Amino acid sequence: MKKVTILDKEFELFIESDTIQDSIKRIAKEINHDLEGTNPIFVAILNGSFMFAGDLMKHVTIPSEITFVRLASYQGVSSTKDVKEVLGLVENIKGRTVVILEDIVDTGHTIERLMKQFELLGPKEIKVATLLFKPKALVKDVKPDFIALEIPNDFIVGFGLDYDGLGRNLRDIYKIIP
Ligand code: IMP
Ligand code: MG
Repeated sequence: MKKVTILDKEFELFIESDTIQDSIKRIAKEINHDLEGTNPIFVAILNGSFMFAGDLMKHVTIPSEITFVRLASYQGVSSTKDVKEVLGLVENIKGRTVVILEDIVDTGHTIERLMKQFELLGPKEIKVATLLFKPKALVKDVKPDFIALEIPNDFIVGFGLDYDGLGRNLRDIYKIIP
């Protein structure tokens, strides 16, 4: 079994590149079918979704746009909750079909907050496409519209996902060895 060490942790091969690519092609087809005629704007959330976005868009054949944003974490003044604000959206999404591209939906906190921020900008509709979904970790009432791969609750790295900033470049996905 292929293993990698990142900082103090060991990871073992979990999902191979071919499987990742096949599932990305599958959801691209779903998107082409479901969003035909809507001229969607894809909004990829950096850094995690860069590989997913690049590979997905190669198989999106409907007229569409793509843009990239990142999230800034701020410590709330009156609450200890981490607030994540969208940075870098210059396009006008009013009246548009927006497709958020995420690397992973875990507890659902991030995607819920993102959707609330995008809703304030008056889009026609917001869809979520995610490379990975951990259904057992979900605590929020959000379900991604397009899911490439469902995975159990293990911590993973690779294909855009990081451990302390490292491992995003791996072409396969690895899971932590406990
Ligand atoms: P959520 O807000 O709990 O859904 O978490 C989403 C964010 O947590 C993702 O965008 C990732 O940055 C990070 N995350 C969640 N699970 C993993 C994992 O297994 N590996 C690496 N990052 C993860
Ligand atoms: Mg992330």
